Amino acid sequence: SRRVTVRDIAAAKRRGEKWPMLTAYDAMTAAVFDEAGIPVLLVGDSAGNAHLGYDSTVPVTLDQMIMLSAAVVRGTRRTLVVGDLPFGSYQEGPVQALRNATRLMKEAGVGAVKLEGGERSAEAIDLLVRSGIPVMAHVGLTPQSVNAYGGHPVQGRGDEAAQQLRRDAKAVQDAGAFAVVLELVTGDLAAEVTGELVIPTVGIGAGAQCDAQVLVWTDMAGMTDWPGGRKPRFVKEYARLREVLGDAAKAFAEDVVEGGYPAPEHSFR
Ligand code: KIV
Ligand code: NA
Repeated sequence: SRRVTVRDIAAAKRRGEKWPMLTAYDAMTAAVFDEAGIPVLLVGDSAGNAHLGYDSTVPVTLDQMIMLSAAVVRGTRRTLVVGDLPFGSYQEGPVQALRNATRLMKEAGVGAVKLEGGERSAEAIDLLVRSGIPVMAHVGLTPQSVNAYGGHPVQGRGDEAAQQLRRDAKAVQDAGAFAVVLELVTGDLAAEVTGELVIPTVGIGAGAQCDAQVLVWTDMAGMTDWPGGRKPRFVKEYARLREVLGDAAKAFAEDVVEGGYPAPEHSFR
């Protein structure tokens, strides 16, 4: 069976079907999500926090994204794999964006790339799309700008901010993006933008009216250790993987110390 394509994504919006997206950073986890029927996997630069131990996405490099994206492609058969362009790999302009998006496609085998920014990234999106690279855009809160925000404020509050978000969403659609992530946007505004666009909106902390929803997989599965125990409002944990894994590790350790493992059936004679 073939992989999901951007045409399938467009068809889902025409049919009014909602769809889920998760992040993935390694082959084995990606295989689990592929087998679970998740149609789109994002190799997000959230790998910085969720996989590589940084405290933001800013330090993540293109070479790291290529390595992680290649693993996710190898681990999957059906899902559309979207690779994130990390901070500094496209901000110089369309030509740099094309050069690095091309590397992500050729070296990792992703089916599409994602980059942050609305109007400010429209020219880069346009060149990528005209070059045959499907682009998922990302507006609202854009985490690569965390140092400029000084935090993670909800976006689109107030008339001026709402108008800017509308212009950003329209700009990426006009530039040819096949979908757009709306991050940390008030639910009412995200609903309006979703109604105004012909391309699907993928919400994260953007209410229930988006066409699709994305979560960072370690958040979704209860693996993330939230600083100070403060889990963001938009995160729903569908498992407590942190406890499950921790309990498994403790049981193994106890077994080894007490001589219960390996038992005869685990030993060669
Ligand atoms: O890097 C990431 O995981 C993302 C999603 C949260 C949209 O950009
Ligand atoms: Na990202």
